[in-house]
Amino acid sequence: MVLNLGILISQNGSNMINIVKACNEKKINADVKIVISNNPNSKGLKKLRALKTKSATVLIKDFENKKAYENKIDELFKQNNVNLICLAGYMKILEKDFLEKWSGKIINIHPSLLPSFKGLEPQRQAIEKKVKFSGCTIHYVNEIVDDGEIIDQSIVRISDDETVDSLKKKILIEEHKLYITVLKKILNVYK
Ligand code: GAR
Repeated sequence: MVLNLGILISQNGSNMINIVKACNEKKINADVKIVISNNPNSKGLKKLRALKTKSATVLIKDFENKKAYENKIDELFKQNNVNLICLAGYMKILEKDFLEKWSGKIINIHPSLLPSFKGLEPQRQAIEKKVKFSGCTIHYVNEIVDDGEIIDQSIVRISDDETVDSLKKKILIEEHKLYITVLKKILNVYK
């Protein structure tokens, strides 16, 4: 089977670019069919231009409500034959209707070792708790934020002089590797 990926981003898009490159270089048997950003100034979409992957910006303010906004995203993914949605720094919560339509077909990356440090600023939460290890988690998305079945995780050591910024960078390096590992894992399941 070939994974037809739809990726949702909000800002920087480094995970998304990494996935697009891995697909283009045939490191995984997957195609990125479309990348959607909810942010008109997303750096990720700017970087994507050079890679010739289809993209769209869908702004919540252009719709009557969140349901209509998510219906547009659903329509774009369906039109492009997407069969797995990857959230990669998508900073909005998906509503029940959308989740039901894509049940079992949405994965998310979160920069902590879930179930620790759910929600916003998990790297700051980890530093403030003085934990010695953190990392990243890729999980299926369900109706509860950062709660779905865990697919895989990577660990990083937090040093004594770690800052929120240095931890973000350290975890991001692991995120890039983990996303590719997980996509390969999912491909193996459906082989
Ligand atoms: C990543 O660290 C990702 O784990 C996090 O946002 C960053 C996006 O980076 N996602 C969340 O916090 C979601 N709750 P990127 O845009 O460079 O891929």
